Amino acid sequence: MNLAKLCCGLPVNPLPPAKARDEHRYPHAPVRNHRLSEEGCKLAVRNALRYFPENTHKILAPEFMSELKTYGHIYMYRFLPDIEMKAYPIDEYPAKNRQSAAMMLMIMNNLDPNVAQFPQELITYGGNGQVFSNWAQFWIVMNYLSQMTDKQTLVMYSGHPMGLYPSSVSSPRAVITNGMVIPNYSSREEYDKMFALGVTMYGQMTAGSYCYIGPQGIVHGTTITLINAGRKYLNTDNLGGKVFVTSGLGGMSGAQAKAGVIAGCISVIAEVNGDAIQKRFRQGWLSEVADDLETLIKRIREAKQKKEITSIGFHGNVVTIWEKLVEVYQNSGELLVDLGSDQTSCHNPFNGGYYPVDYTYEQSQQLIKDAPAKFKELVQQSLKRHANAINILSSAGMSFWDYGNAFLLEAHRAGADVGTKQTDNGYTFRYPSYIQHIMGDIFSMGFGPFRWVCTSGRPEDLRTTDNIATSVFEQILRSSDLPQSVSDQYNDNLKWIRQAGQNKLVVGSQARILYSDQQGRMALAVAFNDAIASGQISAPVVISRDHHDVSGTDSPFRETSNVYDGSAFTADMAVQNCIGDSFRGATWVALHNGGGVGWGEVMNGGFGMVLDGSEEAKNRAQLMLCWDVSNGVSRRAWSGNTFAKQTIIKTMQRHQDLLVTVPNDVDPNIV
Ligand SMILES: NC(=O)c1ccc[n+]([C@@H]2O[C@H](COP(=O)([O-])OP(=O)(O)OC[C@H]3O[C@@H](n4cnc5c(N)ncnc54)[C@H](O)[C@@H]3O)[C@@H](O)[C@H]2O)c1
Repeated sequence: MNLAKLCCGLPVNPLPPAKARDEHRYPHAPVRNHRLSEEGCKLAVRNALRYFPENTHKILAPEFMSELKTYGHIYMYRFLPDIEMKAYPIDEYPAKNRQSAAMMLMIMNNLDPNVAQFPQELITYGGNGQVFSNWAQFWIVMNYLSQMTDKQTLVMYSGHPMGLYPSSVSSPRAVITNGMVIPNYSSREEYDKMFALGVTMYGQMTAGSYCYIGPQGIVHGTTITLINAGRKYLNTDNLGGKVFVTSGLGGMSGAQAKAGVIAGCISVIAEVNGDAIQKRFRQGWLSEVADDLETLIKRIREAKQKKEITSIGFHGNVVTIWEKLVEVYQNSGELLVDLGSDQTSCHNPFNGGYYPVDYTYEQSQQLIKDAPAKFKELVQQSLKRHANAINILSSAGMSFWDYGNAFLLEAHRAGADVGTKQTDNGYTFRYPSYIQHIMGDIFSMGFGPFRWVCTSGRPEDLRTTDNIATSVFEQILRSSDLPQSVSDQYNDNLKWIRQAGQNKLVVGSQARILYSDQQGRMALAVAFNDAIASGQISAPVVISRDHHDVSGTDSPFRETSNVYDGSAFTADMAVQNCIGDSFRGATWVALHNGGGVGWGEVMNGGFGMVLDGSEEAKNRAQLMLCWDVSNGVSRRAWSGNTFAKQTIIKTMQRHQDLLVTVPNDVDPNIV
């Protein structure tokens, strides 16, 4: 199989031989709870068969029914492509333009087994972040992209390729929506049914928009969070000898190990899944592994004493670590942890996102399938123990924050004591979300996870972009009159980009992430485009960002948890952002329900844009990035964030045609 063949369309004549999923080579998604009646199951199979000619239905119908009954979803394993799934250099894709070839590259990167969490279930990260709902959709999309002209737009409805529609050269080449449902039906139960029926899908953030770049993306964000947590909670820039305890070595959480080392602390990360722990260890992201609690405690003491910089993976349940740390503290007064958080997938707690204490990984998997109600009860009991131990250690001096994974929300729903208060602005908890205390101000200054992919696949091109980015930032620091808070951010990010190459962060495509504000993002895009035009970079560069950004996401328990004017439950910002990017030059845009905090809890969107060295690309990039950042900064300013107000006023001085409604200060005691 080669790329030309892969792009010829869904193979149905003849059908490929029946194929089972590969149980040994790849990890697999937990069995989904489809919640369908017998009639519903038949509807799901009929829905799936719509992709295939009628003469194949007798063969495929029983096969799809069996997949649904066995795995809770119809993935169409028979159609797993027989090709090494990875980002191939852009010129190898059979396509009529660079934009569609770039999208193919990004899609295949999201499904690369080295990148994706459950590659055969088309899941990139987060336990349920689908690129597509089934393999038929993959084949059809690759075929559409290979024939798409620059006067057509691909329309994606939650994994389903609706088709190619006439548009114009300046239109996006693809418009993607994932999980859009009528708001009153945006419950987990409805989701389970609709996903099983194949009519909706959870695109997470960058899975369903094809922009995931491996755990590097989150390494940078986590490094920044840890550095700024040190500043905020421990009053230091130096994390030497400080211990950070957390959980999760999965898709994004796997970044915590590497980030802890870059930030210079001792990180201790619990992970119940042996495969996940080994993957990070083999990759070199995890420095060491401890299998039992006594060894772990000994290592923490040693590392603390010698101020070692290390990341220790613990193969087991995180609740056991927290309870052990409580035991040590209560027996000896020794507090072995300074900073704490959690990155289990609590956005999806009862379907394999959170594993309850006292049950092995395998036992839990079995319970999810055979006894979902009991499993839910166990998860909730475990969350209560989890929160209880954290409460004791926090009272002793540890600083804990919610890492945007809905941990506090689910612990509260489980009945744990997390200091819940219901206010007119929603819930507040005893602990802040990392957005409230750490990242919110960074977003308000316009800084967020800008990223790029070198489509040549050549490491030399990535090195060139790293060098260009370094000079762009140095130049901004030299020439601009930046407030101290902004220049601190530039300096942190300059340090990151200078070390990025030697930190060997690439997994999958030749990609880089760099937190940057509006000025920086625009300058980076222009500099890359110029370097492509001059031949210094050998092929187009795709720029994009995480949806978890200044303007990309409305989520009251995460990205907008530091918005206090009552608008935290509105989603105008994310929707406006996607619409605004689409007509200002994005190559593709995506708008999602779900992602991060969970289905119905968040709206988020993003874009991909191909820089090809043309004047047109330069103009598009400047216009779109100006909006892509200013939108969120304006909203955050209007909602009362001081950093955002200063930032948008400064931005208006740089852009004469930007005129934003700026709030007047209101004395809190006036009424
Ligand atoms: N705020 C952010 O920037 C940010 C960044 C990354 C992730 N997140 C959130 O963090 C969560 C994790 O993301 P992910 O992509 O790594 O998901 P993931 O499902 O790939 O990884 C979570 C890992 O936690 C492990 N786990 C579950 N319960 C456990 C327990 N009780 N003890 C020990 N290990 C346990 C799982 O085995 C899994 O490997 C998600 O909810 C995500 O949205 C937030």
